[in-house]
Amino acid sequence: MTIVRDQAPRARRSGSEEAGWFEQWFGEDYLHIYQHRDEREAEHAIELIASNLAGREIHSVLDLGCGAGRHTKVLFERWWTVGLDLSMALLKLARKESPSAPYVRADMRELPFADESFDLVVNLFTSFGYFEDDREHARVLSRVCAVTQHGGTFVIDFLNAGQVRRELVPYDERVENGITIEQTRTISQDDRFVEKRIRLRGRGKEYIERVRLLSDADLERMLSAAGFDVSKRFGDYNGASWSEDSPRTILFASRR
Ligand SMILES: C[S@@+](CC[C@H](N)C(=O)[O-])C[C@H]1O[C@@H](n2cnc3c(N)ncnc32)[C@H](O)[C@@H]1O
Repeated sequence: MTIVRDQAPRARRSGSEEAGWFEQWFGEDYLHIYQHRDEREAEHAIELIASNLAGREIHSVLDLGCGAGRHTKVLFERWWTVGLDLSMALLKLARKESPSAPYVRADMRELPFADESFDLVVNLFTSFGYFEDDREHARVLSRVCAVTQHGGTFVIDFLNAGQVRRELVPYDERVENGITIEQTRTISQDDRFVEKRIRLRGRGKEYIERVRLLSDADLERMLSAAGFDVSKRFGDYNGASWSEDSPRTILFASRR
């Protein structure tokens, strides 16, 4: 397999502030605020995946939207794993944390891998649903399908849209690394996105996080259209069955 490192992302701004929010937010400030992301949670998520794939031969794995590589590191201890992300700042940290794992900078809409390169692709901790147009989401899933081997598995760990709508906390603030972070959450006027405004008090900085409220049924439909069959559904990293109140929507899908 050819691995292209640091592939420059294609500019895709549509002109609106929201269009490229993920290019702004997942940088130095995100890193500073969330430097100590939960590694135990990452191990837990990978245990769930590994136990559900027990007996399967896995040679190559893609961690799609790997961020600072907390899952890639754990995956790499089990299987040969590539981490892919768009954020240079997060990839830098990932490379420092686990220097032997290969990392690639690319946009998930343009995966720089040959077809059928991976036995397993994972997309963890809501690293999906960031685009304005659902055709972009469909495009990501179709590229994921192409790089997954026939019979291979795609695991997507996404928010539970119904639960997010019901339990939306409109405002909170907390102090992290000496910075007061104010977070305001709303549902977009068109009802399609959950939007979080993150203000770093006293720093004059504000970011947007904007995630498409795709339901479990939406995800299953999109996965099916891309060429996957959903085989397992979980509602948390302990492997509880998915329900309307689950904190997560974790789907295991097999490439047809
Ligand atoms: C919520 S973070 C999760 C990171 C990691 N999976 C974790 O659990 O720590 C989402 C990640 O998706 C990445 N991302 C956002 N848009 C992307 C895109 N278009 N292509 C590749 N990665 C992207 C971000 O840079 C960020 O690292």
